[in-house]
Amino acid sequence: MSTREDLQNLFEENGQGHVFADFDSLSAAEQETLLADCNAVDFSWIATRFEQYKSGDTGATIGGELVPAPVITLPQTDAEKKKEADALAVGEEALRKGQLAAFLVAGGQGSRLGFEGPKGCYEVGPLTGKTLFQWHGEQILARAKKYNTTIPWYIMTSRTNHADTVKYFEDNNYLGFNKKDIMFFQQAVVPSIDFEGKLIRASRGTLAVNPDGHGGSLTALVKSGAIADMKKRGVTTISYFQVDNPLTTICDPVFAGYHLQVGAEMSSKILNKAYPEEKVGHICYQDGTLTVIEYSDLDEKNMHARDENGKLVFWAGSIAIHMISVDFVEQVGGNARLPWHVAKKKIPFLNGSEIVKPADNNGIKFETFVFDALPMTKSSITMEVAREEEFAPVKNATGVDSAESCRQLLSNRFAAWLETAGKTVAKDADGNVKVMIEISPLVALDADELAGKIPASLDTGKDILLS
Ligand code: UD1
Repeated sequence: MSTREDLQNLFEENGQGHVFADFDSLSAAEQETLLADCNAVDFSWIATRFEQYKSGDTGATIGGELVPAPVITLPQTDAEKKKEADALAVGEEALRKGQLAAFLVAGGQGSRLGFEGPKGCYEVGPLTGKTLFQWHGEQILARAKKYNTTIPWYIMTSRTNHADTVKYFEDNNYLGFNKKDIMFFQQAVVPSIDFEGKLIRASRGTLAVNPDGHGGSLTALVKSGAIADMKKRGVTTISYFQVDNPLTTICDPVFAGYHLQVGAEMSSKILNKAYPEEKVGHICYQDGTLTVIEYSDLDEKNMHARDENGKLVFWAGSIAIHMISVDFVEQVGGNARLPWHVAKKKIPFLNGSEIVKPADNNGIKFETFVFDALPMTKSSITMEVAREEEFAPVKNATGVDSAESCRQLLSNRFAAWLETAGKTVAKDADGNVKVMIEISPLVALDADELAGKIPASLDTGKDILLS
């Protein structure tokens, strides 16, 4: 580590001397952490990013000829159902052999939700208040049990939430997992800068930094030793998922099967967009290259374009769920070279001895996105899932994609499972069930599994908890 004098000189030479302005007034501990942050600063990276920002390059590739990606749609015909059954068999075989791992990206800052602490600790169980981490954990355990195997769980955190995440698992007995089958690792952080390219002090003892985006997971998987651990275990395929969606199917055997059948490197799940402006990414070919175009980057014309049957041309919305081959991560992870996306944000900053939370955007965060690895694949499949079965994200404090909508969607899904088994559940005019229903993944992973487990005396007029 460089000395304070060397660092201060370096920062002054690079126009960042303000970082040291109050250095002598800091406590020894504050000086130590600030110096550690300063040591990690890469000035050429900052200069390149600032130039990128000034040039108006947001990191997204805009324009070009867009063509929807081919999708394995929900099976309707007998032939499609047969293909699904074949894929299921392949995926189940891989599960039985212990070739799948669960990988949760949970390093995000969850700022939209306004929840202090790791987002995985957010409570979404309609009746139990079960956390997102617990939903995911129960599902992984249940699937492992079903296939008489172990599914190791890799959890990526970041500097702001690592300690709290690990503590949550420790305090909760690793959610029933064998400790050796859960691995936590941190993604990298990068500095945030203001609109003049200056570093920002987040506190007396720290610089403002942000996690390097979920694209950082590819590098972090390699650097942390997670990939090496997977290889030792005989894992070939990574089931990548986000923290915010308790309906996500982790280590989905059908999805894994389709992915494995063609030897794909990275595959994606999509759903039929609810409306043109829905805030999901679009999987498509851009000038012949498979890519995801974020909702914010899809032009108005393509966003609203419809085919002769009135269906949206770009109907396939990414739910950010992927199967990724271990070999692919090993190949690209060490040197992923994903584009940096620019986001203007409100970044808390130190003013004197006070930390100010600005009302307006005052700086820039740079992030990489995991789906930007899709253009590097030679083979990939895209599979449609049913929204009501697999998508209930918690992103906002209220309204669309909130905890409230998530609890309703969970209850609706479980009601549909009960209905499949011949029960009747009352609904309102919008199709929402009127009671809250919660069924633990440990009881049933799907409607078929639930069928044999419904108590004869079940009263569907009241809240239902099966756990
Ligand atoms: C994301 C996708 C969007 C998709 C939607 C589906 C992006 C840019 N967009 O939107 O295409 O349709 O989900 O729900 O991802 N994370 C990290 N480290 C980071 C940043 C994020 O681990 O540095 C994790 C978060 O903890 C979370 C996930 O990545 O689990 C998604 O991040 P978030 O920022 O919430 O993505 P969205 O904008 O909601």
